Amino acid sequence: MRFYEDERPFAVQIFGGQPERMRMAAEMAEEVGADILDVNCGCPAPKVVKHGGGSGLLRDLPRLETILKEIKKAITIPLTIKIRAGYSDSTINAVETAKLAEACGVEHIALHGRTKEQGYRGLANWDLVCAIKENVSVPVSGSGDVATIEQALDRFKETGCDGVLIGRGAMQNPWIFRQIEETIAGQDVFQPTLDDKRALLLEYFVMLREDMPELAAIGRMKQLAGQFTRGLQGGALFRTAIYHSHSVTEILDRISEYFETIGAGRQYFGEAGKLMIEAPVLDSCEAAAASI
Ligand SMILES: Cc1cc2nc3c(=O)[nH]c(=O)nc-3n(C[C@H](O)[C@H](O)[C@H](O)COP(=O)(O)O)c2cc1C
Repeated sequence: MRFYEDERPFAVQIFGGQPERMRMAAEMAEEVGADILDVNCGCPAPKVVKHGGGSGLLRDLPRLETILKEIKKAITIPLTIKIRAGYSDSTINAVETAKLAEACGVEHIALHGRTKEQGYRGLANWDLVCAIKENVSVPVSGSGDVATIEQALDRFKETGCDGVLIGRGAMQNPWIFRQIEETIAGQDVFQPTLDDKRALLLEYFVMLREDMPELAAIGRMKQLAGQFTRGLQGGALFRTAIYHSHSVTEILDRISEYFETIGAGRQYFGEAGKLMIEAPVLDSCEAAAASI
């Protein structure tokens, strides 16, 4: 595991259904320098749930309790948890899960207010964030469907939550966190230029290349470029060009070509004649892994 010092405090999230293995994973995370250990009780991916992990833990609270107690005994860094509303509509148990977690020594609870069975359909239920806040004394954050500064501020105001998590919205606008901070502080809100966007895509690609083989890095790059260019002029054509790239050089050339073209105010035509690729819907940890 690699991280940059300026990323601190950084949390390592683990998932799984076996107490012993979860404890070992937590110990390893602390050993490599994690500041926070988070237990995933939200992932709906079948391959995770099948083994009792992720949102599978929401339908086996005794197992979750054992896991949390085992981990708590083994680590000294703060233990946190990310949960969903419940496993299904008929078994909503976010408040019960949050109370159990607090009793096991969990120091922060994050809720994505959809059920496992709901996946990403419908909207996240933020009323459950209020309900959890009323029942525990540790900080509580909410997650789900926040993609703008206004939405984040509204969720803070409506629920009194301690934090707002942003997933898909941050893949489209990675600057959203500082923009929210600046808005709250009454400062000018940073607006990225095309150069900023290009630089970020390139920096991300360089970092991917340091961490993984070329093919895997290209897969990840396609994923981010797809989300990142939603709404930009010629974005769909750029995505198509990136999707048809097979090498690092090709990707870098496409990025330069795209940003130079739209930066000069010219129309980007990409690869005329190719079937247009829409940005894939990224809606789970599994989706992220599958496209690698
Ligand atoms: C591609 C992708 C990967 C995700 N991976 C994780 C993960 O590893 N752990 C986790 O707790 N949540 C994960 N999530 C869920 C998000 O943290 C978040 O709860 C959910 O996407 C709803 O928030 P959003 O509407 O802001 O995206 C992932 C979501 C997406 C779209």
